[in-house]
Amino acid sequence: MPSTIIVGSQWGDEGKGKIVDLLARNVDIVARYQGGANAGHTIKFKDQQFVLHLIPSGIFHPNVTCVIGNGVVIDPVALVSEIEAIKNLGIDISGRLLISHNAHLIMPYHKILDSVSEAHQGNSKIGTTGRGIGPAYYDKAARTGIKIVDLLDRDILSQKLRKNLEAKNELLKKIYNVEELNIDNIIQEYVEFDKKIDEYITNTVYYLNNALKEGKKLILEGAQGALLDIDHGTYPYVTSSNPISGGACTGLGIPPTAITSVLGVVKAYTTRVGYGPYPTEQDNEIGETLRKIGSEYGATTGRPRRCGWLDIMALQYSIMINGIKYLAITKLDVLDALDEIKICTGYRVGSKILKTFPNDLKTLEQVEPIYETFPGWKSSISDIRSFDKLPENCQKYLKAIEDLTETPIKIVSVGPEREQTFVVD
Ligand code: GDP
Ligand code: IMO
Ligand code: MG
Repeated sequence: MPSTIIVGSQWGDEGKGKIVDLLARNVDIVARYQGGANAGHTIKFKDQQFVLHLIPSGIFHPNVTCVIGNGVVIDPVALVSEIEAIKNLGIDISGRLLISHNAHLIMPYHKILDSVSEAHQGNSKIGTTGRGIGPAYYDKAARTGIKIVDLLDRDILSQKLRKNLEAKNELLKKIYNVEELNIDNIIQEYVEFDKKIDEYITNTVYYLNNALKEGKKLILEGAQGALLDIDHGTYPYVTSSNPISGGACTGLGIPPTAITSVLGVVKAYTTRVGYGPYPTEQDNEIGETLRKIGSEYGATTGRPRRCGWLDIMALQYSIMINGIKYLAITKLDVLDALDEIKICTGYRVGSKILKTFPNDLKTLEQVEPIYETFPGWKSSISDIRSFDKLPENCQKYLKAIEDLTETPIKIVSVGPEREQTFVVD
């Protein structure tokens, strides 16, 4: 029963979509366990590019069943448009997409509240994606959320919605001074959604546990990244779920004893979208070069990503909390033209050298990165398909990452296309 969790090891956008799509050809099931349409997972093949927000990144393989787990918050608008876009590519998804009846729904007021509350934050904005993620998980934790299963019974849906809307309309009107929402319109809209997604709704917990019993192979796909984890990330500049590997069990209802491995996807440098501390950020020409060569613009919002050097302190922490066994290094080709490349190997605060990654905001904002500098390889590696053929300086860079993290690199990605990848023996 091999089941591998694939997690983002940094602040998201590490190239999880590409790696999941690549490895999905050898498995039976790909299951998403948290987050929502804040994710943007890019997959490129045969000159086509597709950005998935909710549907797992195995959908382009006809033999793979894709599961959206109970831990995901589902915006039906985004889901229906994604389903339609995939069908328009001529891809048959019937019987291959399963949606947990226990997943919570993103309602129109969640998206409005996300935007207006951010607008009211002034200098302490999170820089959310505006997809209603925080407000939806807020309702889930407050035990007032509306689930996919509630779509199946119009009376329950109306009852729950009425109760929620009373509170949300009050908030919208009195605190944020925006227009109230009409219950009938929302019910009508969500009943229509139900018709479109009804065939996919099921008890995914039983489906997944039966699949494990039958010896099927699973990939459990994380969205975002460890440093955006609500418990272990750079709080409050985080998302509202648990992207770390631990989230896979709660977000899918499968036991920790069923997990066989954890693969961490690591960008060869770092990026971050939104606000919050980022010790190795290069708010300068280097950052601009990385953004330009790496096309570092958000796959969901189009926002320019903040760019900087690889941060080993953060990565070691991520490897520890995720239990990462192997690394997949992506976007190595983006460093091709650089004269020199830096890796942050430690943090200094005043005269003190830190031994651990401080995820309290105050310390993290003060840390000064200690860098080790590596000579660049100054040649294109996009067509290389084995470790031995990489330029010597590039090999040295990868070996340094392995040594510093004490974690083997299993996959190297040298371009956005599926085939621009190789496995390291
Ligand atoms: P995800 O959210 O982790 O799936 O990552 P995104 O899709 O948001 O961002 C990764 C971006 O990098 C996408 O545009 C990918 O097509 C692209 N990409 C992935 N791997 C590579 C690579 O090895 N080299 C280059 N140049 N681009 C890559
Ligand atoms: P993928 O899966 C990068 C960031 C937002 C913001 C913070 C909170 O593509 O890697 P939210 O909308 O979740 O409340 O925003 O988290 N964020 C991401 N950054 N990649 C993502 O997903 C992200 N999803 C959310 O920019 O800083
Ligand atoms: Mg992304």
